[in-house]
Amino acid sequence: MSIVAPGTLAHHAPPVPALAERVGWLKLLGAFRRNTLEAFPRACLDAPAVTIPLPGGGRMVLLSTPAGARHVLLTATHDFVRLPAGRRVIGPIAGRGLVLADGEAWRHQRRVLAPAFTPRTLPLMLRFVARSAEESCRRLEEGLGAPADLRGEMQRVALDIATTSMFSLETGPLGAEIRALISGYLDRLGRPTVADFLLPPGWPTPSSPRRALFRRRWLRLVRTVLEARREQGAQGQEAQGAPRDLFDLLIEAHGDAPGGLLADEVGTLIVAGHETTASTLFWACTLLAREPAVQDALAAEAMGLDLSEEGAAAALPHLRLAKSVAQETLRLYPPVYVIARRAARASVVEGTEIPAGSIVMIPTWVLHRNTRWWDRPETFDPRRFLDRPEPDRFVYLPFGAGPRICIGAQLALSEATLVLARLMRAFRLSLDGDRPVLPVATTTVRPDHVPRFLLERRVG
Ligand code: HEM
Repeated sequence: MSIVAPGTLAHHAPPVPALAERVGWLKLLGAFRRNTLEAFPRACLDAPAVTIPLPGGGRMVLLSTPAGARHVLLTATHDFVRLPAGRRVIGPIAGRGLVLADGEAWRHQRRVLAPAFTPRTLPLMLRFVARSAEESCRRLEEGLGAPADLRGEMQRVALDIATTSMFSLETGPLGAEIRALISGYLDRLGRPTVADFLLPPGWPTPSSPRRALFRRRWLRLVRTVLEARREQGAQGQEAQGAPRDLFDLLIEAHGDAPGGLLADEVGTLIVAGHETTASTLFWACTLLAREPAVQDALAAEAMGLDLSEEGAAAALPHLRLAKSVAQETLRLYPPVYVIARRAARASVVEGTEIPAGSIVMIPTWVLHRNTRWWDRPETFDPRRFLDRPEPDRFVYLPFGAGPRICIGAQLALSEATLVLARLMRAFRLSLDGDRPVLPVATTTVRPDHVPRFLLERRVG
């Protein structure tokens, strides 16, 4: 049975920057610092590969077809490694954590983490999601009457979920410190510079000293988190009869020595697990603010379901519209809007020569907006994911694809689905004012300003 009658979900096209007509290396690399979305070349919509020569004889190749994405992410995955610019930018947070590992080290680290992200462990994690969603609704309820900062609130709920579901840890006051440090980093030092892209691997850039300083502060904070976790113990997990959480798995595999992998993996998972999901929830709220009929349909879907800690796992399969809204949000605003690699050896992809050392980019942002694969791609239309076969995994790739696909994809999608359902069941929301909210992509896709939302308690 369909949850919404066809035609009842009239849709809008959210404002986004136009793709660029002509782009040189300076504009494209410079835009990574300001707003990359303004610099992706329009040619990516038609040409399977767009090559941009770099100073010094290097190249950047933008591959924006499913075949190109498949080649890099699946077929020839060994030929494409982590980008030095990515190491420079993400390194201060992730260190040697899974996101930046390559080769044998990556295989080992992925094997260690995998057992924590299986379908068997998901129901347990959903209990923490449900609890955090409940607390978030309570905070919003208390603030009713004043405009709400849903960006801040979604960051808070996503961080609570990341730390409780993975590490059985209530961060308390540490949470605000983590959010402030990460947001500050992503807003400033986390924006890639031209030097990050052009200097040879291992060379320092003008940002290196300040990034090193940030890294010391970040590691200090992560160590405090680890201490708090040790003191608190895994009570939450034990209470529910689950023997171990990610913290236990990581200690067992990597030990607990200072300078070891533990702090890097924990730091990586906290950041990877909360910033992206918070972004998805925030953009979903801005989209839904313009779609009262979809909000009503979401509330109706969630109304009779038990979304409490005990009921969340069983309710999840029934939240089909909420899931499709989360998926459509990830199509329109993929937090990881481009997947970048360095060519480890020369190859030819989609008829285009890729010399060793080239920067290779798969612009998810463009793939998700191409009329060759999507009907009216500029419009918000959750029905494209409702009662339809899943889209091709190299056309729709918010979580990447192949062996390095996001390890937290199922958790993230379930989390976004449940939190949205819970919010929409409790409130009607609209934007306070008419100012459009524009996406700005640097490290992830963020809003150009922090909008305020008006919330109204839903009755019935
Ligand atoms: C909506 C939320 C999320 C989005 C859009 C997202 C997106 C992605 C993407 C696109 C990649 C692949 C990057 C590449 O190939 O270069 C990735 C990798 C990764 N993600 Fe996520 N992610 C999300 C949530 C999470 C969560 C909740 C966690 C942890 C619990 C997580 C942990 C990771 C890790 C550790 C990797 C590296 C995997 C590897 O290299 O083997 N992510 N993510």
